[in-house]
Formats: sequence, structure tokens, C-alpha cells
Amino acid sequence: IMVWSSLSLAQSPEFSQGNDAPDMFNPAGPNAESIQEIFWVVIGICAVILGLVGTTLIWFIAKYRERPGDNSEPPQIYGSRAIELAWTLAPLLTVTLLAVLVIATVIKLRADPPSTAAHRVRVVGHQWWWELNYPDHGFTTANELVIPVSEPDLAKPIYLQLESADVCHSFWVPRLAGKTDCIPGRTNSMWIQAGEPATYFGRCAEYCGTQHAKMLIRVDCVSQADFDKWVENQKADAVSDDSVAAGRDRFMEMACMNCHAIRGTRAAGEFGPDLTHLMSRKTICSGLALNDRENLTRWISKPDDLKKGCRMPDMRLTEPDVKLIVDYLLSLK
Ligand code: CUA
Repeated sequence: IMVWSSLSLAQSPEFSQGNDAPDMFNPAGPNAESIQEIFWVVIGICAVILGLVGTTLIWFIAKYRERPGDNSEPPQIYGSRAIELAWTLAPLLTVTLLAVLVIATVIKLRADPPSTAAHRVRVVGHQWWWELNYPDHGFTTANELVIPVSEPDLAKPIYLQLESADVCHSFWVPRLAGKTDCIPGRTNSMWIQAGEPATYFGRCAEYCGTQHAKMLIRVDCVSQADFDKWVENQKADAVSDDSVAAGRDRFMEMACMNCHAIRGTRAAGEFGPDLTHLMSRKTICSGLALNDRENLTRWISKPDDLKKGCRMPDMRLTEPDVKLIVDYLLSLK
């Protein structure tokens, strides 16, 4: 029930922004495919058991029911080694078989990615957004994980190191892989790989506080050429011309810089998302709203209206200040 409710929630347009719903039964990479395979094997074995037990139950009810006029005592049996061995061994063997199959899959998926030439991304869960750090390229972004497509003959998995900055979260993009928890004080790992350029949606899958439901993940899988272009842009420092200098000054004066980093400026805060290339992202508030002037204005003026209880404080900015700061943010391409 939890899985279905979470999936149907994620399909609502407010959350998924359209195109591609998170669908456990439509895997888009080898990791998710293995999970789907083991899912159907386990369902198959359980269905056979349910069929056998159900049929036997109905058959016994029909065959040995009390008949009218027959008051005789049924035969009394005390112990049967054969039957007791059978009902002990059959479940034991079944459970062992299921355990071996599932553990083998878990080991396969937990192992390092099937290639050393993997991309690395450090994923840090925060209340309630995702920090995404690309250590090989030296930049940090948020909420929208951009990955290159895996060519069939050049499989390049994405190796994720999962951490948490506060409480437990869980990274789950159903079409790419199973859930892996982000736990404070330890580093978990997983790998994903997508064979088709598309946007894959996911969500935090471990209750982490008020806005757990609005901690969405977007994985944008793009061609290698587009990925290289995106990396080049992300690596560069922020550039903004003098037309938005007033907004930049307000950003620095109004304490925004205490929580947010913008590379190439004084702002180096780490509590909130890195905003260096904010406008290269399609959404804000961890996938909650489209990244445009209207939503940025709403978000900065009254963060609680969009995301109640969020960690971004209401700075009580005047309307002109909000406009200046939004102008500046809109210049961070
Ligand atoms: Cu983060 Cu639930």
C-alpha cells in the first residue's frame, strides 16, 4: 500500500512535472532489471505455494466436512514422522531457496559497479533536499542528478556515494535501482546506469521529517556530448554582469550567503543548495516547483507557503529587495 500510494503521489503533475512517472515495473537499467527479475521469481514461488495451500484447504473443507446424520468420531491420529518431517522440511527448503536467490541479487547490486570507468557522484541527503557533488569535476549542484547515457558497447555506470547531513534519508529512483539509505556518520554506495536519455523521477524513501514527501529526485540522463557540455558549464564560476550588481549585493548583505554558495563570489555557505548555476536546474525546492521568476519570488518571500517547516528562513525582505535578488539569481545560468 505504501509503495502504491507513494508512486501515485509521485505521478501527480505537481510532483513529477509531467513526462515520466517512477515505475518499478518499467526498469531502465541493469540494476533495476535485476530487482524486477528477483521480484517476479519471488512472486512466482509464492504464487505456487499459495495455489497449493489454497487448493488443498478448499479440497479438505469439501471432502471432510460434517455430513448430516453422521455423528461418528473421525479417526484419531497421534503423530506421524513422515508428515511432520514434510511440513518442517518443505518450508525450510522454500525459505532457504528464497534467501539464497535474494541474497545473491543483493550482493550483485551492492558490489562495486561492473566497470572501473564509472562516474562518481557524492549524494548527501539534507532536510529536505539533495546535495550532489561531482568530485572528479570539482563542483556541487542540487536535486537534479545529470548523468550520461550508457552506450550498449560502452557501459559506464554511475557510482553513488550516499551520505546524510542530518537524519536518515533514502535515495530511490525506481526505474534505475532499489532504495539505499543515507545514514548520518556513514557512507553507503550504489550504482545506477540508464540506457536511454530520459528524465527518471525518484524520491526520498525514508521518513525524514515534515517535508519528507517533498524531497524529490530528478535524474536527467543525457547524451555524452550534452553531459560534457553540462559539466563544462557547471565547472565554471558564476558570471553575472553589472546589470544585476544590486541584487548580488543584496544577496551578500541579507545573509543569503551564510547558507548558500555561489562559486566566484564571497558566498560559500554549505547549509543550503549551491546556487552557482541555479538556472541550469529545471526545478527548485527539491523538485517541488518549476524554476522560474514567479516561483523564485514566492519561495524567497515566503518559503513556508511552498514548503511548510522548511529550513529556509523567512528573511522578511521587502518586495524591491526580493525582486533584485531574483534578478540576480536568474542571471546564474
Ligand atoms: Cu529525506 Cu525522507
